[in-house]
Amino acid sequence: FTKPVLAGANVIVTAGGTKEAIDPVRFIGNNSSGKMGIALANVAADMGAHVTLITTVHDQLSSPNLNEIKVSTALEMQKELQKHFESSNVLVMAAAVSDFRPAHKADQKIKKDDDQDLYTIELQKNPDILKEIAKDKNNQFVVGFAAETENLIPYAKKKLYSKNVDMILANDVSKANTGFNVDTNQITLIQRDKEPVTWPLMSKNDIAAKFWEYYEKNIK
Ligand code: C5P
Repeated sequence: FTKPVLAGANVIVTAGGTKEAIDPVRFIGNNSSGKMGIALANVAADMGAHVTLITTVHDQLSSPNLNEIKVSTALEMQKELQKHFESSNVLVMAAAVSDFRPAHKADQKIKKDDDQDLYTIELQKNPDILKEIAKDKNNQFVVGFAAETENLIPYAKKKLYSKNVDMILANDVSKANTGFNVDTNQITLIQRDKEPVTWPLMSKNDIAAKFWEYYEKNIK
């Protein structure tokens, strides 16, 4: 692995929560705002990287270095990732990928029935996109996220190896000002053969700037 400088590098960032259709108007989703991924994509583009942002939410700011690809489902996100991964240098997987999707999408809006109170949606497991793509990793520097409510560092460390990634950005989502749908976050960087590094509570934009600065200075 030889790390390229960020300016001119091909960077992929995924952002937002995937939406898994139940019928034409309803979906299974999660609370992710996409703010962390979008901040990471914007800062990298501002620093001169060629950024492919695969996202379920639309980005307000856009730089000429930013190519936004809009997706909804985990399977769509995986397909786009597969197209772009080989020619990339860095992947940051910030998206909150739904672990499940409805096994069958109804063609028409599911109607409620006056005589029926209980309804069932059968769920199919989605692929672990990060794990699947990181199996084919060559020289890419691959970063995953871990949102946990307890045992943050041991769980994140486990993910580093089970998903074959180079770094996990872990955060404790049990606190009010970290994680999903807020503008701030507290990150712990977990890497192989290195002590975890915990940064103070910061805005997601500041975390993005600090992350790419760390990448430039510390990743060899
Ligand atoms: O296993 P867990 O969901 O905690 O892992 C989080 C990391 O794995 C994130 O980087 C997320 O984008 C990725 N992930 C994925 N596909 C899934 C679930 C999570 O790529 N089905």
